[in-house]
Amino acid sequence: MRRFVYCKVVLATSLMWVLVDVFLLLYFSECNKCDDKKERSLLPALRAVISRNQEGPGEMGKAVLIPKDDQEKMKELFKINQFNLMASDLIALNRSLPDVRLDGCKTKVYPDELPNTSVVIVFHNEAWSTLLRTVHSVVSRSPRRLLAEIILVDDASEREFLKASLENYVKKLEVPVKILRMEQRSGLIRARLRGAAAARGQVITFLDAHCECTRGWLEPLLARIREDRRTVVCPIIDVISDDTFEYMAGSDMTYGGFNWKLNFRWYPVPQREMDRRKGDRTLPVRFGSVVAPLRLSRAHTLAMSSVKQPLTPSLVARDTSSTRTTGGWQRSGWTSLKTSSI
Ligand SMILES: *[C@@H]1O[C@H](CO)[C@@H](O)[C@H](O)[C@H]1NC(C)=O
Ligand SMILES: *[C@@H]1O[C@H](CO)[C@@H](O)[C@H](O)[C@H]1NC(C)=O
Repeated sequence: MRRFVYCKVVLATSLMWVLVDVFLLLYFSECNKCDDKKERSLLPALRAVISRNQEGPGEMGKAVLIPKDDQEKMKELFKINQFNLMASDLIALNRSLPDVRLDGCKTKVYPDELPNTSVVIVFHNEAWSTLLRTVHSVVSRSPRRLLAEIILVDDASEREFLKASLENYVKKLEVPVKILRMEQRSGLIRARLRGAAAARGQVITFLDAHCECTRGWLEPLLARIREDRRTVVCPIIDVISDDTFEYMAGSDMTYGGFNWKLNFRWYPVPQREMDRRKGDRTLPVRFGSVVAPLRLSRAHTLAMSSVKQPLTPSLVARDTSSTRTTGGWQRSGWTSLKTSSI
């Protein structure tokens, strides 16, 4: 009997230590400044409670859960674009998103005279709701004077709704939207170049056809280019769940790059960059600053914000100041080079 009690005590103490360990691990792993982490995880939840008026599916970037009865249909629809189309179609085209920027980024002031930009979005058989949510997020979260136009390049889609219906829809938007059509399937890069050739803005921004821009995404990107027009910038890319369309803040302590097999991967920001920024995570992280601009600075500076295939493997500056563009999915039908790390 005594032995049994003894065992229980030992068990209870070890259990306590396991819990303490788990707690310590959760608290201290993967973050240098833990108050940041707390800020990020607590505030969106709080804000969601405060903004009771935005209660529709997926508002404030919340997950959309499909009821059991519709699961079969959901799985069928999933196959069309390789994401949960049913969930996407339930979410408003102008849904609200949490502001997940670091506090330091929210109060930054950018120069008034920033260059304006043409946003080029290539699509192939994209879903209506994801494509237009991308467009709406660009329109509503970019200062109007900075947004010269949006150029949609259709890489030979077959879906009927991407023809006249799309043209009619975008006419109603307050920003000029051009739709260019490739005569035949040409791939992402050719289609982007076609969009770039038609661009009238001072800066070209490439976006995926299924992303959502958050508040303050554009100004820091353009500010870097204003400082040095040879700069190529890339925002922090967060993730939208392909299952629930939940908005999930990514880490600003990683950057996208290519491994020797030319697969896209996320890498931790090197210590030398941390040191250079003296711990100020609102400053951009620099990469490959020698090679990339030579190729790109012909007529335009390109602001690149693509998850899947940045035009050059080495992006010059990954702007971590306040830019957050939500990442798309790796399985989007029309890319041959796929990322598998999201
Ligand atoms: C989206 O648009 C609808 C209709 O125009 C409007 O009622 C709603 O407030 C908008 N939502 C957001 C988050 O702006
Ligand atoms: C972009 O800015 C330039 C220089 O200020 C201006 O000439 C041009 O009209 C602007 N373009 C648009 C479409 O706003």
